[in-house]
Amino acid sequence: MQKRHFLHATALAVLALGATAAVAAEDTFKIGLILPMTGQQASTGRQIEAAARLYMAQNGDTVGGKKVELIVKDDTSIPDVTKRMAQELVVNDKVNVLAGFGITPSALATAPIATQSKTPLVVMAAATSSITQASPYIVRTSFTLPQAAVSMADWAPKNGIKKVVTLVSDYGPGLDAEKFFVERLLFNGGQVTESLRVPMRNPDFAPFLQKVRDLKPDALFVFVPSGAGAAVMKQFLERGMDKAGIRLIGTGDVTDDDQLNDMGDGALGVVTSHHYSTAHPSLVNKKFVEAFQKANKGMRPNFMAVGGYDGMRVIYEALKVTKGQGGGDALLAAMKGQIFESPRGPMFIDAQTRDVVQNIYLRKVQKQDGQLYNVEFDVIKDVKDPGKNK
Ligand code: PHB
Repeated sequence: MQKRHFLHATALAVLALGATAAVAAEDTFKIGLILPMTGQQASTGRQIEAAARLYMAQNGDTVGGKKVELIVKDDTSIPDVTKRMAQELVVNDKVNVLAGFGITPSALATAPIATQSKTPLVVMAAATSSITQASPYIVRTSFTLPQAAVSMADWAPKNGIKKVVTLVSDYGPGLDAEKFFVERLLFNGGQVTESLRVPMRNPDFAPFLQKVRDLKPDALFVFVPSGAGAAVMKQFLERGMDKAGIRLIGTGDVTDDDQLNDMGDGALGVVTSHHYSTAHPSLVNKKFVEAFQKANKGMRPNFMAVGGYDGMRVIYEALKVTKGQGGGDALLAAMKGQIFESPRGPMFIDAQTRDVVQNIYLRKVQKQDGQLYNVEFDVIKDVKDPGKNK
C-alpha cells in the first residue's frame, strides 16, 4: 500500500515536471548563434557575440511574451561543424532561429537545414552575394562584397588610379570582390594588369606582394576576410610598396576596426569602401560604440559587431510582431521589409531578395584623438546588392 502510494506520488511529480517543461518550452524563444569563436576567424565570433549580448542587455530578454534564450556554439569556422551544430540546434534544442555564420562556406553548408526545417537563418557576417539564394529562409544583416567593391571601382579612376592589380582570398567573397571590382573598373576606363588569389586558410602574402611590387600598378586592390587585414598591411609596408608609389585600396575588411588601431601610422591614408566604420558620425552610432566599449573592456566594435547587433534587432522585431505564433514562416515574413536606423546608417531588408540595402561609404584612414579610424568622406546611398541584377 505504502509502495503504491509512493509510486503514485512519483508519477504525479513526473507529470507535473513534464508540464512545467512543456510550458517553459512554449514560453521560450531560442536563438541558435553559431560563430567561429576560435581559430582564424575568432575575432568575428568575439565581436558578434558581444554585440548580440549588448542588444539583449539593452532591450531585455522578454519579447512578445516570450523569454529569449541565446545558445552560442563555436563552429571553429569549419563548414561541416557549422552544419552539424545547426542540425543539433534545430532537432534537439528546437531553436526558433539560426543566426551568426562567420564565413560563406558555413552559411552555404547550413542553408539546406534552414529550408528543410523552415527555420529562419539570419546571416550576420558572411558576405558572398549568392548566399541569400541558397535558401528562401535566409535573411542577411551584414553586407555583400559586390556592394562594397563596385563603389571602390567607381571612386578609384576618378582619383588618379588607372592601373590596378587585385589580390583576393580564393573563395566566395574574394571571387565576388574581384569580379565586381574588375568589371566596373574596366567599364570606367581603368586597367587590371593582374588578378592574384591567395589561399583562404593560413595565407602567405609575401610572394604575391613581391609580384605586385614588380608589376608596379597605381594601386593594389585587396579583399581578405576580417581578421587577416593586419597581416596584409604589415607585409605591404615591410616591402616598401607605399614608398614605391603603390597605393593600397580595398573593401573595408582590410582596415577592419578590430585591428586598425594596431596597424600603425603606415595605414594612414588607405582608402576603402564599406558599410560601417566605428567613426560613423551619427548619434545612434555614438551611443552604440559607447555602450559596446563599456560592456567589453574598451573593445572597438567593427562591421561584424554591427551585423550581429542589427541581426538581433531584426529577430526581436519579428518576434514582437508575431508573438512567436505561426512558426518559422510567420517569423520570416516579419523579417522581410524591415527598415530602420542602424549604427551604420539607414538600412532595409529587401523583401524580395531578403538581402540588405544600405549606404556604402568611402573612408580614409586618419588619426583622431591619437587613434586610427576609417573616416568617412563620401557616401553612395541605398546600394542594393549588384550581384542580384545578374
Ligand atoms: C565571408 O566568408 O563571407 C566573409 C568573411 C569575412 C569578411 C567578409 C566575408 O570580412
